[in-house]
Parts: sequence; C-alpha cells; structure tokens
Amino acid sequence: MGGAGPVLALLAWFGAGAEALDNGLALTPTMGWLHWERFLCNTDCRAQPQACVSEQLFMQMADIMVSEGWKDAGYQYVCIDDCWMAPARDEDGRLRADPDRFPGGIRRLANYVHSKGLKLGIYEDVGNHTCAGYPGSFGAYELDAQTFADWGVDLLKFDGCYCDSLERLAEGYRRMSLALNGTGRSIVYSCEWPLYLRPFQKPNYTEIRQYCNHWRNFGDIFDSWDSIKSILDWTASNQDSIVGAAGPGGWNDPDMLVIGNFGLSWDQQVTQMALWAIMAAPLFMSNDLRQISPQAKALLQNREVIAINQDPLGRQGYRLSKEDNFDLWERPLSNLMWAVAMVNRQEIGGPQGYSLPLSVLGNGLACNPSCLITRLLPTRAELGLYSWVDILSQQVNPTGTVLLRLEAPLQPRRTQSGGRLRRPIL
Ligand SMILES: *[C@@H]1O[C@H](CO)[C@@H](O)[C@H](O)[C@H]1NC(C)=O
Ligand SMILES: *[C@@H]1O[C@H](CO)[C@@H](O)[C@H](O)[C@H]1NC(C)=O
Ligand SMILES: *[C@@H]1O[C@H](CO)[C@@H](O)[C@H](O)[C@H]1NC(C)=O
Repeated sequence: MGGAGPVLALLAWFGAGAEALDNGLALTPTMGWLHWERFLCNTDCRAQPQACVSEQLFMQMADIMVSEGWKDAGYQYVCIDDCWMAPARDEDGRLRADPDRFPGGIRRLANYVHSKGLKLGIYEDVGNHTCAGYPGSFGAYELDAQTFADWGVDLLKFDGCYCDSLERLAEGYRRMSLALNGTGRSIVYSCEWPLYLRPFQKPNYTEIRQYCNHWRNFGDIFDSWDSIKSILDWTASNQDSIVGAAGPGGWNDPDMLVIGNFGLSWDQQVTQMALWAIMAAPLFMSNDLRQISPQAKALLQNREVIAINQDPLGRQGYRLSKEDNFDLWERPLSNLMWAVAMVNRQEIGGPQGYSLPLSVLGNGLACNPSCLITRLLPTRAELGLYSWVDILSQQVNPTGTVLLRLEAPLQPRRTQSGGRLRRPIL
C-alpha cells in the first residue's frame, strides 16, 4: 500500500480553501437530469416523437422526477443540452427555442418545471456556435444571460466549441459568469473551461472556481465501461491538481451518470455510482426515466450513497493506491466519517478477494482506534466494529466496486441502531 506521500500532499492542499463563485449555489454537488448522453441532438420529432429534443421530453421527465421519487432523492434540475434552439436568433438578436419542438417556448417550460418544485437548466456556448452548430453566445453574453433570467432558467451549461483563441475562451467564461450575476437571478453556472484550455495550458483552478459552480475537465462520457475507466484513470492521474479545487460552491464535473442505459453491466453501474459519490461529482443522470429498470432506479436513488456524494464537508475523494488489479479510493466526510471504494479492475475471471489493512486509510486516522463499518454497495450490510490493526476482506466482482462507510463507534446516534459488536473497542 504505497501512496502516503501524495495523500499528505492532498491533505495539505485542503488548507488553501480557495474562494468559490459567490452566488450561494451548489454548496453540495448539483443533482438532476441532463438530456445529452441518452438523447443527443435528435431533432426528428416526426420519426421519433418520444426521443427527440422537445418540450414534451422535458415535461415528461419533470413529471416522473416528482412521481417516481427522484425529486425526493435530491434530483432537482431538469436540464436541456444542445439542439434546443432555432437555427438563427430573432430580429432583436435574441435566442429563441425551435418553434416546432418547443411551441410554448422556454419560459412556459420553466413555469411548468417550477410548478413541479423542480428547476430548469439550459445550454449555450462561449464561442460563435454551439458544438452542434446552433447560434453561440459570443458577442451576446449579457443579452443571453438576461434572456435566460427572463425565461426563469436556473442553470446554464456553457460549452466551449467554436472559440478561436484562449484569451477569448477565458474572457467569455468570465464575462458570462458576471453577466449571470448581473441579472440578479440565482443561476448555477456549469463550465467546460478547463476541458478546452487543458490541451494548450494548465488551468488555473483558483480562478475557475471563482467564476464557475462546476467545471468539466475531460471529454464527454459514453455509455461504456471504457469511458468510465478513462474518466476514473484521468481523474486519479490528475488528482494532485484537481481534488483540492473542489469544495462547497465549486466542483470537478466528470460528466453524466449513464446508469440505466445500455452499455454498463450491473457491476459497472455500481462502480459509476460509488465513484461519482467518492469524487463529489455533480449527479446528472442521462437516461430515460420513463423506462428504467427497478435495479438501476434503486441504485440511483440509494439514499446512503447520495448522502456520501452530498456530504456537507465537501471534500473530494482520491485514489489511495493501485495494485494487483485493485484501485482503492477514499473520501473524508463530515463527523469524522470516511467513504472507501475498492474497485476490481480485472476484466476476466470471477469475484476477487481484497484484503484491506484498515491502518492505511485516512493516513492512519480513518479507523483509529476503531470504527464501525457499513457496506453500502453492491449490497448493504453492517459489517460491525473493527480495530485499526484489523484487515477487512471483501469479495469484489470484475469491474465492480465495494463501497464502504466508516464511522467512529462512540457516536450515540449510530451505536443505537449500529452494528453488533464484532470486537471489543480498544
Ligand atoms: C453577485 O455577486 C455578488 C458578490 O460578488 C454576490 O454577493 C451576489 O449574491 C451575486 N448575485 C447573484 C444573483 O448571484
Ligand atoms: C467569431 O467569429 C468572428 C468572425 O469570424 C471572429 O472575429 C471572432 O474571433 C470569433 N469569436 C470566437 C470566440 O471564436
Ligand atoms: C490564478 O488565479 C488567481 C485568481 O485569479 C491568481 O491570483 C493567481 O495569480 C493565478 N495563478 C497563476 C499561476 O496564474
């Protein structure tokens, strides 16, 4: 179990406490639904009325988010991605929704979503066009921010396509942030600034955090295990520069949850849910809530896993070690609790045993002198009381994850309902 050095460095970083965008939003990672990964730029409502980007799609998702327990679980933002617009601005230069697919316009859709107690997200781009070729916001940041505010929009995902210089990219992201603030409306600002900057220069996360509520660092997610793996590996390889940037008000965004779609096995879906909780990621599902398996629904609505994602301390987790096909991640939580994930990266064979010396966790502090351990995924079990010299053994399926929560045994709130005594407290 190596890695004490990097962990020490990460813990030291946390003291920095860089200032977040001061709009009072995203104090915990934003939760909601976003159309992109599942519905892409499908504008053919004649051929595919149920799967095209239209007001009906968002109204149906809003209905189900309320009736099927998603809202109660914390998913609040119903978000539109690219391809909602008419191909050109109106005669006053204002953006408008495609009149065939959004006959009521965005304001009426926002009213509908608000009537359900939910919030509406929308999409634009810092450059001359959106990634799919619709009108971009370049040259109209203030006008577009005001248009979104007038419509009652609550979140803006701001993409970075068709921008011809790094100066204009940075200037555009800053100006849109100030323009949103200038409207006086509370609007979550979701950026892709570091993603577009990174090929050319090292992003300044102190600055990005001052302007954005979350920011994408890495390319779009796909509905595949390869995609999940590449995001986890990228995040772990860059954790020294990104983990310290996350905290209440500003988060690294590893992109949408694809749980409930086609490309991930059950164990891979468990891995995505567990690791998005460890990474303090915004939780934007991109799936079809009208047709989702009970198993995927239960995973996405797992209250205890969501509580780890939403932990008020707001520290992002990190990979502690990588050896023998196992990745070990940990995340410090409030009330001296810790979340721990064991990921089996072997893509052959059956379940593998993993033996974890508890003394390696949290720089030796996570289970010291003892802790109560609950397994949350793939199935819930109260594993009981452990001492810091103990070794915890778990079986983990190929490409699957065991997610654990460790807590101090002396909290009365927990010990009453908590695990049986497996060993005497030291
Ligand atoms: C705008 O920014 C100021 C501080 O810079 C902050 O106090 C205010 O709440 C912000 N307003 C909105 C609507 O975000
Ligand atoms: C938008 O296009 C104009 C005209 O070609 C160009 O001058 C400007 O730099 C472009 N803006 C961005 C952000 O690429
Ligand atoms: C990063 O941005 C912050 C805030 O704008 C600034 O104070 C700092 O000097 C920048 N760091 C670098 C290395 O440019």
